[in-house]
Amino acid sequence: MTSAQDIRPRKDELAAQALYSTSPNASFHSPSSHGSALTRTIPLPNAKHLKPFATEDIKVLLLENVNQTGRDILSQQGYQVEFLKSSLPEDQLIEKIRDVHVIGIRSKTKLSARVLKEAKNLIVIGCFCIGTNQVDLQYAADHGIAVFNSPFSNSRSVAELVIAEIIVLARQLGDRSNEMHNGTWNKVSNGCWEIRGKTLGIIGYGHIGAQLSVLAESMGLSVIFYDVVNLMALGSARQVETMEALLGEADFVTCHVPELAETKGMIGPKQFEQMKKGSYLINASRGTVVDIPALIDAMRSGKIAGAALDVYPNEPAGNGDYFNNDLNTWGADLRSLKNLILTPHIGGSTEEAQSAIGVEVAQALTRYVNEGTTLGAVNLPEVALRSLTMDEPDHARVIYIHQNIPGVLRKVNEIIGDHNVDKQMTDSRGDVAYLMADISNVNTTHIRDLYTSLESLPSRIQTRILY
Ligand SMILES: NC(=O)c1ccc[n+]([C@@H]2O[C@H](COP(=O)([O-])OP(=O)(O)OC[C@H]3O[C@@H](n4cnc5c(N)ncnc54)[C@H](O)[C@@H]3O)[C@@H](O)[C@H]2O)c1
Repeated sequence: MTSAQDIRPRKDELAAQALYSTSPNASFHSPSSHGSALTRTIPLPNAKHLKPFATEDIKVLLLENVNQTGRDILSQQGYQVEFLKSSLPEDQLIEKIRDVHVIGIRSKTKLSARVLKEAKNLIVIGCFCIGTNQVDLQYAADHGIAVFNSPFSNSRSVAELVIAEIIVLARQLGDRSNEMHNGTWNKVSNGCWEIRGKTLGIIGYGHIGAQLSVLAESMGLSVIFYDVVNLMALGSARQVETMEALLGEADFVTCHVPELAETKGMIGPKQFEQMKKGSYLINASRGTVVDIPALIDAMRSGKIAGAALDVYPNEPAGNGDYFNNDLNTWGADLRSLKNLILTPHIGGSTEEAQSAIGVEVAQALTRYVNEGTTLGAVNLPEVALRSLTMDEPDHARVIYIHQNIPGVLRKVNEIIGDHNVDKQMTDSRGDVAYLMADISNVNTTHIRDLYTSLESLPSRIQTRILY
């Protein structure tokens, strides 16, 4: 929890604010038809650079070789950044985390309740990766610690992989290459196709599906898609009413849905029946989406002419000779199939994606530290106010993270209501609520009093005042 000392402003810092004219507020969300109005908040040209306290006091610990792009953004803020290439054993992690306000990790560092309990100053966690399973999200939320990740920075990388796979499957390139590696010259055209004029069926038209749609059309494919949500089709793509309609029309079917109860085994024996003879299947979404024994049957029978899999129901934790029957009972049968591309969950694994993740997460952390904005947080409600401007020198932003219980807002408004509340937003997620208010005509004494009063409320989880 941030201590009073951390958030207490100094007079000279208040004066120094007049010197800042930049805003760290670039919108970081990937463009998407799914974005909320909040994610489109545009920074004002004369936005005031809010600061919670002297930036050199903000301690950031970056573990697991977080990308240079992220390190640079955090260092440029003037924060004290400690960077380590590896993760830390739990006892060393506990020692280090006691001191820091911000921690950046990737997938190997486990931030359990036991570790977070020691993190008395921590206000925010950045997962410089896609998943957040390594963090006890509920414990973090209950203690006012925001968690950010980067779910969409690698969408383009996945879309490009799928484009490559469409051509590789249509031309049986994987098999030809394997044959040549074994010394066999096998020049064939039978069953090899151009992709021009063929139909690509995309199941799940989100960040990846929509990106893929644009790339595929530019190569001469017709695109149809199926999604549970009605979405605006990009280019000349067309949404179809049912998955059955898509399966009956597409030459290439590719899955880009999340892992949900409804998507588990969504491509099974019945769906292979509904697909065109000689069509192809690609899955770079989640391993549970395709019923793999059913795919093996469909490929052996010749119904499916080829497939590409990047994800599997069980995936090993590290690199090595693990893709065998111990991992998935059908491993050997799958490996024996022709015109089947098997890749080890590398859809999003590119240098560009790593770099984009560094930027996205570091910007989210900076915005949270400097402005309190929770857009993109995975465990707190998403709250943002438009930036304060340089024309508003005596304003402060009050952030009050609190238990979501009746009567809190009345009490908070009794405290801040003595000032002019210019704007205010509050939202809750489960048991935790997040209130943000910009108030005017405040001096350092007011700020200190406000802080003390808010901290004394029984509903308090964490109070921060930015100015
Ligand atoms: N292979 C990799 O390395 C890699 C990398 C990134 C993402 N992914 C996976 O790709 C998948 C898609 O990612 P995204 O970023 O495009 O997700 P997204 O959330 O942007 O889009 C998912 C889309 O699927 C739709 N959908 C949900 N349930 C559906 C259903 N039952 N039928 C049809 N449509 C449904 C949603 O409405 C949404 O439009 C996810 O499973 C993600 O985990 C894999």
